[in-house]
Amino acid sequence: MREHVKIVEVGPRDGLQNEPRPIVVDTKVALIERLVHAGVKHIEAASFVSPKWVPQMAGSAEVMQRVPRTAGVHYRALTPNLKGLEAAIAAGCEEVAVFGAASETFSQRNINCSIRESLERFRSVIEVALDNKLRVRGYVSCVLGCPYEGDITPEKVSEVALLLSEMGCHEISLGDTIGRGNPNSTRRMLEACIRVIPASQLAGHFHDTYGMAIANIVASLELGIRAFDSSVSGLGGCPYAVGASGNVATEDVVHLLHGMGYETGIDLPRLIQAGVYISSALGRETSSHVARAMSSHCSATLAD
Ligand code: HMG
Ligand code: MG
Repeated sequence: MREHVKIVEVGPRDGLQNEPRPIVVDTKVALIERLVHAGVKHIEAASFVSPKWVPQMAGSAEVMQRVPRTAGVHYRALTPNLKGLEAAIAAGCEEVAVFGAASETFSQRNINCSIRESLERFRSVIEVALDNKLRVRGYVSCVLGCPYEGDITPEKVSEVALLLSEMGCHEISLGDTIGRGNPNSTRRMLEACIRVIPASQLAGHFHDTYGMAIANIVASLELGIRAFDSSVSGLGGCPYAVGASGNVATEDVVHLLHGMGYETGIDLPRLIQAGVYISSALGRETSSHVARAMSSHCSATLAD
């Protein structure tokens, strides 16, 4: 039997949060329906942050009310504070995520507080979420470099990751927010984290700014990581990380994993269709190598 790797689709949140033009709720829901149809089981669908900070996520409550409630499909929303958590609970979320950073400056720019203050805030968010039977994921951003501070030490990453894990996060997603990592720095950072948290509770979240994300995923697989965040069509970026491009494209990750003998439960042609849908809705080309290759292969076959 092939070993399973968990894919967390973050396109509807990380992917769309930075789009310059408003995206209507219908488009977000239609994307999520197509992802579900492709077999995606973990979808970050919403973000209950301040609409003044991230206007694109303003319709999150309506998105959560309209997503297909299919058995085995889990939706998650970002919740930076108790106000966000209350909104997520009211909208029927079963899983939320707190998002911290391994860089002081990024923490200030992204959530307007220091790392220490953010962890104090998250402690109460996590407590209330767990009391309400919600699962909580923890993010650590800037694990392989910060747009403001440059290098970040693996020890700083593992320190923040461990604190989130001890507070009750079931999974810690390690974010290469600006895509600065390479397989060697990825390994060093993961080795520090695996010393304090089992690999089974860690996830890789690689942005593909320098085209290193797939290489970093292979390095992570070698260290036993079996969960990865990705974004259909390679959508995205972070509004508080200048120059950050999208997450690695889910199509490319699924192609990699299936080719390496892992199973994901995702149907690649249907996933590519979901990517075609959102790329055309946004009026942009896909950033997925695999989607581009398969569409030119299909056109060439049709032309034969
Ligand atoms: P603040 O200004 O310090 O908050 O922002 P505040 O508590 O002083 O409140 C100010 C105003 O915001 C008040 O409204 C609050 O009610 C409102 P006003 O009285 O001015 O009308 N407010 C809220 N409204 C809706 N939902 C809320 C909420 N909280 C306060 N939850 C805050 C602090 C955290 C709210 C703000 O900084 C914020 O929303 N930041 C979000 C930034 C963000 O979403 N960044 C992108 C996601 S992180 C990311 O992409 C990285 C990741 O992908 C991993 C990786 O790649 O590394 C996860
Ligand atoms: Mg991200």
